Amino acid sequence: MKILIIGATGTIGTAVSNILADGNDIVRVGYSDGEFKVDLGSKKSIVSLFDAIGPVDAVISTAGLADFGPLASLDDAAFDLALSNKLMGQINLIRIGADKLNKNGSITLTSGILARQPMPGSSVISMANGALDAFVKAAALEVSNGIRVNTVAPAFVKETMEMMGMDPTTGLSAADTAKAYKQAVEGDANGMTLDAPDYV
Ligand SMILES: NC(=O)c1ccc[n+]([C@@H]2O[C@H](COP(=O)([O-])OP(=O)(O)OC[C@H]3O[C@@H](n4cnc5c(N)ncnc54)[C@H](OP(=O)(O)O)[C@@H]3O)[C@@H](O)[C@H]2O)c1
Repeated sequence: MKILIIGATGTIGTAVSNILADGNDIVRVGYSDGEFKVDLGSKKSIVSLFDAIGPVDAVISTAGLADFGPLASLDDAAFDLALSNKLMGQINLIRIGADKLNKNGSITLTSGILARQPMPGSSVISMANGALDAFVKAAALEVSNGIRVNTVAPAFVKETMEMMGMDPTTGLSAADTAKAYKQAVEGDANGMTLDAPDYV
């Protein structure tokens, strides 16, 4: 399969690229780095990416920006970022990308467990995650050509917790998180949210 991975230079994206590398042609896309670059916040940039790469069998997004912080301190810019980047940026991958995929392909977006297991500080991220999960459930009813659309909901990733100076004991490694993306691409899920801890 030819698999386009957006966010391939990141913590989860690197692990997803690795787990799918065997037997597939992986196209790694970053924002500031990578074989190809895209800005999820720009529809024009997404169109240019698909035009440059041509038809693929699967698209995976392990990107999407949103701030973590107390609700009272979140300003309009924090909501705009989550809505324009993590939410609409990924939704635009389906709106723009679905027509560019080979028959029976798949598009897998990244939401997060905070949609259903929120914590103080997660409100804007939980908002975007919940909307992504709801969107793929509905879009799956209409996307044609056998294209499947799903989200993976990662839990807190060990490597991210380490980077943040937290105790990583309760986290899931990026390599284990990547298993849910492999399942989304190789299985038959459609309109589903794959909770990463369920696929370890
Ligand atoms: N890590 C966790 O614990 C965790 C838990 C739950 C959900 N998630 C979700 O999983 C996704 C990936 O998380 P991560 O920790 O792997 O992130 P990360 O390590 O920060 O990597 C982010 C990736 O997205 C790319 N990127 C940054 N800005 C972009 C933009 N405007 N347009 C397109 N790509 C952009 C980066 O490219 P460059 O490297 O070139 O900048 C990088 O490849 C996010 O949606 C996050 O909310 C993460």
